Amino acid sequence: MTFEPTTHDAAGRIAHLTTPHGTITTPTLLPVINPNKTLITPHDMTTLFHTDILITNSYIIYKDPHLRQQALDHGLHHLLNFQGTIMTDSGTFQSHVYGDVHLEPLQIVDFQRHIGSDIGTILDIFSEPHHTHTQAQTDITETIRRASISIPHKGTMMLACPVQGGIYPDLRTHCAQELSNLHADLYPIGGVVPLMETQRYTDLTNVIIASKQGLDPSRPVHLFGAGHPLIFPLAVALGCDLFDSSAYAKYAADDRYLLPWGTEKLPDLTDLPCPCPICSTHTASELQAMTGDERVRALALHNLYVSYAELRTIRAAIAGGWLWELVEQRAASNPALADALRLLREPNAQRFLEMHEPRSKARAIRYTGTATIFRPLLQRFQDQLLTRYESPYTTTIVIPERGKPFAAYYPELVKVLSALAADVVVDSSFGPVPLALDEMFPCAQSLFPGIVDDETRHEASRRLQDFLGKKTVIAWSPGGRFPDALTGPALDLDTRRIRAVADMQFGRGAGAILFSGRLQLVKSKATLKIRNVLVDGEHVVSMRAADGMFTLKLAGARRLLSGFAAPLLRVTVNDDAVPFVRDGKSVFSKFVSGCDPGLRLGDECLIVDGQDALLGVGRLLLCPGEMGVFQVGVAVKMREGSGGEVDAS
Ligand code: GUN
Ligand code: ZN
Repeated sequence: MTFEPTTHDAAGRIAHLTTPHGTITTPTLLPVINPNKTLITPHDMTTLFHTDILITNSYIIYKDPHLRQQALDHGLHHLLNFQGTIMTDSGTFQSHVYGDVHLEPLQIVDFQRHIGSDIGTILDIFSEPHHTHTQAQTDITETIRRASISIPHKGTMMLACPVQGGIYPDLRTHCAQELSNLHADLYPIGGVVPLMETQRYTDLTNVIIASKQGLDPSRPVHLFGAGHPLIFPLAVALGCDLFDSSAYAKYAADDRYLLPWGTEKLPDLTDLPCPCPICSTHTASELQAMTGDERVRALALHNLYVSYAELRTIRAAIAGGWLWELVEQRAASNPALADALRLLREPNAQRFLEMHEPRSKARAIRYTGTATIFRPLLQRFQDQLLTRYESPYTTTIVIPERGKPFAAYYPELVKVLSALAADVVVDSSFGPVPLALDEMFPCAQSLFPGIVDDETRHEASRRLQDFLGKKTVIAWSPGGRFPDALTGPALDLDTRRIRAVADMQFGRGAGAILFSGRLQLVKSKATLKIRNVLVDGEHVVSMRAADGMFTLKLAGARRLLSGFAAPLLRVTVNDDAVPFVRDGKSVFSKFVSGCDPGLRLGDECLIVDGQDALLGVGRLLLCPGEMGVFQVGVAVKMREGSGGEVDAS
């Protein structure tokens, strides 16, 4: 089994999961097949939806003498007539629903292995949301015990060990840590069906975050029993990779029509608001007039089309960097989900999300409403303004936002900047932005409406006040004069820009470290933007046009290496990898022995050996917490190896 992420957004990821029956791209959906009553056959699913992974229940097969014999004689894939990946559940859910499941934990694990399941599940204890802390503690102790005795029985089958612990974050995290120590293949988050059925999405959010905080980040995470597409975007943004749906069939049996933003009763619809093949070829009245079985099947097909389409939307959102926008849009259509989204502003959730949030994105951040300003990326920008940005002057001039990039709309101010001993800060829609950072992501790369909601305005002004603190602030209106005390030789915008971006990107003081010496700026002839920065004739950094951030060159890396003490800005590799890395090969995760916890996905980093000698510069493709944990895949994409001799300067 391998699980290898390729693209990240929020705490979500697109990854490839390889099993003996193929490679699956996650996030994805596992339709539930009930071997006793198949509404849509696995064969039809393959044809209609390209289904490459599904889930069925081994307990149902085990209980039925005929199915059991068939499965034992010919295998599960033959029984279901499906050649893709099959995951099996264990009977835990039946015990949650019906109470009476008489099974030994190892009996059902052995059975799943015997019938050739690709991914089996242990017989975990379903921790109900109403369980007390003491009860939930007992649930997880038994679940962990069962996981530990089941793992030696898995053979070549992958084994899923669900995280339980009711609604208690401490128990969820603890259970996740204990299960991670056992090295299972896949970690479902269990016991959440009752939370979803009652739309307790804030509890669900807390449960997912607490579980993820304890889980081995290199393993896929399944949200057990989540079948309504409404919850998919948020769950993926929090780090869930797999979903299973019996909702498509259950809702259909109840005449309910799924939509990405909610559910409708079929009899209430006068039109079908969906482009799927069912809805494009039938009117609402035709669907309503169908006989029972025919209608249920048509509805189930529609429900599956919608569910798969939502997962494709999510994957497109991850690849495009707009997953938060999708989450916010969905939350706008469901009040319970809106509450869950609001919960993400809490410090613990922010910490978790910020750690996973990529440093920059391929496209602009778009405002959708009050939640936008609280996105981890914008909170991070504000936090780092306070911890990394250093005002070059004691006086600050605050100017209103006119357009983007900010400086382009203040030519009269830019012209006099080199004779103005003051910092200039834009009072932007999402908070303060020093003029020098106006081209750096996300300042230029964010789209806010002319008029924002009151909560956003209030938060932006709180951020501005926080930033200004005890600084001396002077008012200036366009056309106005500056106090004489402020006029005199000062830094021009270019110099302010490279220093400010370096400080924000690498840490306070980086600008001074990188750019001390004779400066030479190479600019694009077409856009007049800074392209390369040379210091004393050495090419130190390049500035990317797309996000206004720096790409580090070896000369720059050498300067940062001596200016910042280990482990800052560093990824350390094992001795085995040293010759490859020095030659410019990318750094595989399994060779990483250490990483600055302050680095983020997409960051430039210094690659060093155990003696802190520079081997090269590269760009992070994983979070610090994932490095060395993933046993497959690249952790750092090399830009430049130091080549030849190890560069110990
Ligand atoms: N299906 C839905 N919830 C659960 C759960 O908590 N455990 C297992 N094994 N299956 C489930
Ligand atoms: Zn449809």
